[in-house]
Amino acid sequence: GMDANVGATVATDDYVRSEPYLAEIEAQWGAAPGRHQTNGRDIFVLGAEFGNVFVGVQPAFGYEGDPMRLLFEGSFAPTHAFTAFYRWMRNDFGADAVLHFGTHGALEFMPGRQTGLSATDWPDRLIGDLPNVYLYAANNPSEGMLAKRRSAATLVSYLTPPVATAGLYKGLVDLKSSIDRWRKTDPAQVEELATLADLIHAQAVEVDLAAMDDAFGEAEISALSAQILELEYTLIPHGLHVLGDAPSDEERLDTLDAMEEVKGEDRLPREALARIVAGETVDGGEEAAAVAMMLAQDHEIPALLHALDGKFIRPAPGGDLLRTPDILPTGRNVHGFDPFRLPSAFAIADGAKQADRLIARHVETGQSLPETVAMVLWGTDNLKNEGAPIAQVLALMGAVPRFDSYGRLAGAELIDLETLGWPRIDVVATLSGIFRDLLPLQSKMLAEAAWLASTADEPLEQNFIRAHTLAHMDEHGCDMETAALRVFSNAEGAYGSNVNQLIDSGAWSEEDELADAFSKRKCFAYGRDGKAAQQSGMLASALGTVDLAYQNLESVELGVTTIDHYFDTLGGIGRAVKKAKGEHAPVYIGDQTRGEGTVRTLAEQVSLETRSRALNPKWYEGMLNHGHEGVRQIESHVTNTMGWSATTDEVAPWVYQQLTQTFVLDEEMRERLAELNPKASVRMANRLIEAHERNYWTPDPATLE
Ligand code: BEZ
Ligand code: MG
Repeated sequence: GMDANVGATVATDDYVRSEPYLAEIEAQWGAAPGRHQTNGRDIFVLGAEFGNVFVGVQPAFGYEGDPMRLLFEGSFAPTHAFTAFYRWMRNDFGADAVLHFGTHGALEFMPGRQTGLSATDWPDRLIGDLPNVYLYAANNPSEGMLAKRRSAATLVSYLTPPVATAGLYKGLVDLKSSIDRWRKTDPAQVEELATLADLIHAQAVEVDLAAMDDAFGEAEISALSAQILELEYTLIPHGLHVLGDAPSDEERLDTLDAMEEVKGEDRLPREALARIVAGETVDGGEEAAAVAMMLAQDHEIPALLHALDGKFIRPAPGGDLLRTPDILPTGRNVHGFDPFRLPSAFAIADGAKQADRLIARHVETGQSLPETVAMVLWGTDNLKNEGAPIAQVLALMGAVPRFDSYGRLAGAELIDLETLGWPRIDVVATLSGIFRDLLPLQSKMLAEAAWLASTADEPLEQNFIRAHTLAHMDEHGCDMETAALRVFSNAEGAYGSNVNQLIDSGAWSEEDELADAFSKRKCFAYGRDGKAAQQSGMLASALGTVDLAYQNLESVELGVTTIDHYFDTLGGIGRAVKKAKGEHAPVYIGDQTRGEGTVRTLAEQVSLETRSRALNPKWYEGMLNHGHEGVRQIESHVTNTMGWSATTDEVAPWVYQQLTQTFVLDEEMRERLAELNPKASVRMANRLIEAHERNYWTPDPATLE
């Protein structure tokens, strides 16, 4: 009945005799051996032994799939199986060192202090004095920092997948060539143009870029042409990185090309880059040549071996290769940033521009100026972008950071209304637990900005923050300090809204349960003093005024349908707003991955990712080259897509229809996936059926059958 083979067992009697924290574990999970990874007599350690190496599967937290436990506000003890796993490695197997493989595990998210851990904190109890070397994605410095602080890990960075342009495929290629013909046709040839327009319309309907009963003329063809162009040149991750394998020449070329693309000006043409990859010297190509050379060698396995020899691993910044080539060579110990310097001057300027862009996009859709924006802040994004998302919050509120005479961040101050030129927009900032841990000064600064705006003697129609604060005080009879709270996160020591766990396990019936999970987990307000207090009423009141929800997208490698955290945080707040307010607020994504940035509606973002990735043979064949893991990635896309339906209702039905067509109804593909990874294949098919049962799409009877 297990998902992996049992590599070793721990007899419950031995476990009970030797586990010093048994009482704490039993208080949460019942009498040993509990219900996880056990036959009732022994606790299972999953994995397999290869001589001196044990390859183990880290147990889960244990609350997945348990809706009641997922609603717990705080965090609790690890399961019997979890503690037995680490104790077995340390004491029974007698490991000299442990290598954690692959980013974002459970050990470093176990309950306890954020930093300076001791024997009262779970990560410290579990890892003990076992040397911990952690192979970690170079683009995830924030969570990497937690692994270092909370589990004494030495990080060894690895490269993210190569990046390439999405290109066009199948019906999109035909559509593009028809549009090209239409463009080249002499305007005098009216009949020919009309025939072509009909063809283009039909082809667009075929790929769900238009509806049959849409009006269709020159304006629509131009818009369609822009959409095709965006699709063709969207950057996507291409395949997966394999530890120890340097990217191929072609992959290095694609990556260099994407780096130039992101850089914008002084772009080296692709053929010059091809010469660089081939080892030739090109004028002005020194930087690209250095990158090409570092990419051509494996630095990662040697670094792991070096770490296991007990030697020093050199430090390196974390970030995205496309914008931060300094992450090369990989195989180094990722570090973060100087917390006193965020947000940077660049971020403050850029934050104001992005805030303008967001408001412009919202108003363009016919809506009025928002009174309140719900903004999701992650640690990673702010580390990669010098605090630009934090600066966006400040810009909306009409505030700037205040630095002391040493240039260190000391708080916030308001920009006067005249200089600001628009009303202060209220912002409910929900912080990931990681942001909260890594950026306490910035959390306090945001709380201070909300307080300053709430107490400013300004007309209410020019200051929505104050207007909402006063209204809340009036209604609930609370003090200004409480009514001015706008920064929310988890309880200390807890992470995530658990909406992703609910979606993954399917253990929910009404969408409002997702809103409840989000609100229960994220109702801890962080005030000007940096202290957390449970403030459910204040959160509900703030959510009730939200006009739009927003998050930035920072990495090409991670789209909103790639990982389950975007719908967990942004989707979660979207659903919580729906419940608090009684209606959906639009959800936007600020794509910061190239150029000046683009604001898309969530529906547009999901469509773009579905077309450029999930349905794109270039993307899925790249994944399927990696066998079972490729199928798992495809399944993740489907599950994350359903996460967006469940939280925002913004996913168009064609998305499910096309995913079904490509991966289930195509017999050859279905069999291929089943062969490579039967579990993920079944999960994907079940997820599509679940999406239908939850009314996110309605397949015709034949498709359903
Ligand atoms: C963060 O950096 O805050 C974060 C990273 C991954 C998932 C969720 C949040
Ligand atoms: Mg996860």
